[in-house]
Amino acid sequence: IRVGIIFGGKSAEHEVSLQSAKNVIDAIDKNKYEVELIGIDKSGKWHIHRASEFLLNAENPKLIQLNRSNEGIALVPGEDQNQLLNTTQAKSLSQVDVVFPILHGPLGEDGTIQGLLKLANLPFVGASVLGSAISMDKDVAKRLLRDAGIPIADFVSVSKASAKRITFDQLKSKLGAPLFIKPANLGSSVGVSKVNNEEEFNQALKDAFKYDNKVLVEEFVKGREIECSVLGNEDPMASVAGEILPQQDFYSYEAKYIDENGALLQIPADISDEMTKRVQAMAIEVFQVLCCEGMARVDFFLKEDGQLIVNEINTIPGFTKISMYPKLWEVSGLSYPELIKRLIELARE
Ligand code: DAL
Ligand code: MG
Repeated sequence: IRVGIIFGGKSAEHEVSLQSAKNVIDAIDKNKYEVELIGIDKSGKWHIHRASEFLLNAENPKLIQLNRSNEGIALVPGEDQNQLLNTTQAKSLSQVDVVFPILHGPLGEDGTIQGLLKLANLPFVGASVLGSAISMDKDVAKRLLRDAGIPIADFVSVSKASAKRITFDQLKSKLGAPLFIKPANLGSSVGVSKVNNEEEFNQALKDAFKYDNKVLVEEFVKGREIECSVLGNEDPMASVAGEILPQQDFYSYEAKYIDENGALLQIPADISDEMTKRVQAMAIEVFQVLCCEGMARVDFFLKEDGQLIVNEINTIPGFTKISMYPKLWEVSGLSYPELIKRLIELARE
């Protein structure tokens, strides 16, 4: 079976995708699957014949920094070069049997590539067009979850035009403080800020609007960060729960991928069996409300009073060395190679 792994992409999570792809390529059972690499560079150009090379030669300070802080991951020139180059090069997209898109953020996780693959009659791993699109847009996803009666953090969605009319004090009186500012369509906490005053608020809006035309202003929820992985199509199952213990102010991009000591993962999370069951049931409910397929990771806040709040869903969750999705399955009894196999089996046209 020829598996086309599409990675990189134009979004601000490009470097994270490289790390995710590297791990999936390492873990995939090479006796069973022939891996074809399909890279998309930051300008959006596709590299089918020598997909890995543009990555290996990529001069990207952010990536190099990422590489340094994660031992054993080398997507810039280094020891692992040959290993990555030895995987076969796809001759064309039509010569693969199934596609595993490992792209995070817009133009990858948002239904665009899924639509392209559907048009090409190619089965692919993960959510289809609708599930991808509505899950990527935090504003749309939260409205749908709220409509389904699932608890979410209160929020206001702001366009570039409406941002001019809105002040920190107005939002503070509605949502309290501090506030979280996030681009509506992105992940890995890129462009996310926690703000306490007007000045920080204005700067945070500016930063977030660099990545999106729509920005979310969210209430700050004080709680533990709990995550759960979901796997399946019609009858999905949920993994054990995990907890993120951020060692910084919040679970930022830095804490995730740059600072080695940025966050600790506790798997399984130290919560009661009853709470674990609630997390799992809600994760599956979120997955279904948002029309997901194949895989997703659902992120929660667990408040001191026991209330569980859905933060967000990720339809192409990170597969990096520090990422929760595969780790949660490992502890649930599904090894990394088994998980990849299962995901490929679940792929649909
Ligand atoms: N968006 C990143 C990759 C994650 O959710 O893991
Ligand atoms: Mg995310």
